[in-house]
Amino acid sequence: DWTMASYRQEQVAKIRAQVGDAKVICGLSGGVDSSVAAVLIHEAIGDQLTCVFVDTGLLRKDEATQVVTMFRDHYNIPLVHVDASDLFLGELEGVTDPETKRKTIGRLFIEVFDKESAKIEGAEFLAQGTLYPDVIESPSTSGGPSAVIKSHHNVGGLPDYMKLKLVEPLRELFKDEVRALGVELGLPPQFVGRHPFPGPGLAIRIPGEITRDKVAILQAADAIYLEEIRKAGLYDSIWQAFAVLLPVKTVGVMGDARTYESVLALRAVTSTDGMTADFFEFPWEVLGRCATRIINEVRGVNRVVYDVTSKPPGTIEWE
Ligand code: XMP
Repeated sequence: DWTMASYRQEQVAKIRAQVGDAKVICGLSGGVDSSVAAVLIHEAIGDQLTCVFVDTGLLRKDEATQVVTMFRDHYNIPLVHVDASDLFLGELEGVTDPETKRKTIGRLFIEVFDKESAKIEGAEFLAQGTLYPDVIESPSTSGGPSAVIKSHHNVGGLPDYMKLKLVEPLRELFKDEVRALGVELGLPPQFVGRHPFPGPGLAIRIPGEITRDKVAILQAADAIYLEEIRKAGLYDSIWQAFAVLLPVKTVGVMGDARTYESVLALRAVTSTDGMTADFFEFPWEVLGRCATRIINEVRGVNRVVYDVTSKPPGTIEWE
């Protein structure tokens, strides 16, 4: 793609000019935006870049491993991988209010990120995968918002002692352009085409209290759901698809025994920007296959329902 090839060159030159020989820290979320930003910046300044990946324990199944493998082994980008899942899940114990969940996660994220980046000596810049829609959506914070922070719906910017200047090479791009740039940079198309994923992660897909067991159940069910969607060739027609583990148990039957287990909701929407969305019209047999597999393969779930709410009035996420 000619446009992206020249954009890439332009940005590489710009990053070099901005950064000089200073060090840059990039907060990697596992998502497409921060990954594309990291690969682009690495191309520009090589090992002057260090990525910090905070694993909250609330990512999709196997995603943390995939991110680490891709960046460390495939791209050879210096990467600090912080497994903070005990901290996050510990602090979330007993928290049921959706806003409190978001705030807790946002606060912890910044604490952990700050602590790790303070260890990177001589860092002067913070790299962000901020996109154009993020820039125009938050005029009050423009110049200060960050994709890392953005991904937690902005908890008030970085603490003062982290006086890093921002490098935001994706500031002029929309999501589809970021994906094109990612492909241009050699990121796997399957990775680049992944559905959006919220900063607070699976926490906002587990209404009520979050436990390690519930996270594991949700990860397993969600992975089956996405696998079936890919198999049916529907992944790219959907803006976002995910499972939600409900804090409701219902009665079922398995063999000659009654079961009393959780309900899982499946969500899939079409959208162009996430601001409005329509529920996705699945062929029934695909939904049926998902339900059968999830109930058979995931212990703890005995009923599956499909969410047919559009946005508005619903939101895409459940919390
Ligand atoms: P809602 O649920 O508000 O979501 O309709 C719209 C889009 O935004 C994503 N989302 C978030 N993304 N941090 C993020 O980075 C968040 O806290 C957050 N909350 C929702 C959601 O996944 C959907 O794509």
